[in-house]
Amino acid sequence: MKIINFAEHPSLVSTFMRELRDVDIQKDMMRFRRNIERIGEVAAYEISKELHYEETETRTCLGVAKTQILSDRIVVGSILRAGLPLHQGLANAFDGAGNAFVSAYREYDNETDFHVKVEYLASPRIEGKVLILADPMLATGASMELAYHALLGKGTPKELHLVSVIASRQAIEYVRTHFPADTTLWVAAIDDTLNEHKYIVPGLGDAGDLAFGTKDD
Ligand code: URA
Repeated sequence: MKIINFAEHPSLVSTFMRELRDVDIQKDMMRFRRNIERIGEVAAYEISKELHYEETETRTCLGVAKTQILSDRIVVGSILRAGLPLHQGLANAFDGAGNAFVSAYREYDNETDFHVKVEYLASPRIEGKVLILADPMLATGASMELAYHALLGKGTPKELHLVSVIASRQAIEYVRTHFPADTTLWVAAIDDTLNEHKYIVPGLGDAGDLAFGTKDD
């Protein structure tokens, strides 16, 4: 597995991350969503450098220019609902991509133990395509794995890119052992710890609630 951690080089992403983590600034839901979306846009640009292009010629008003056209077929997938802003950022850049949505949630067995349930899947065929799977908080890696396996029912992608805002070290080890060896993981930060509720620490909190508000359970 290849890991690209944007935090290794201070950049605009560091600014977005600071705002996402700040307990006061993150109360502004629109800014929270937009900052995640912006990370998705940056990730898309970085991923685009790894993709395949064909030479073509494009007529301008003054002549003909040599240009490139993306030859890979892309599907952007995400896990509802927290994945939506990251998905939007990726889709803003890969505007010709197909889009897949998986609903996976934590069903608690008791105070601390839970299992992840997949209950909804809407996806185009992914056979032979580049699958870019977005989950903003890669805490254990279990939801990402379930989503990936649910999507395999739509074919086998030729390449897999996982995109997260924050990944825990534990999740990185999980991804290393549960995903194809040539998977690339793109993250804006890596945090060391998970708490007893499997939230990333220091993390940023509940990404779904911060993006869309609390829900009635
Ligand atoms: N999901 C979140 O929204 N936050 C975490 O820290 C872990 C999972």
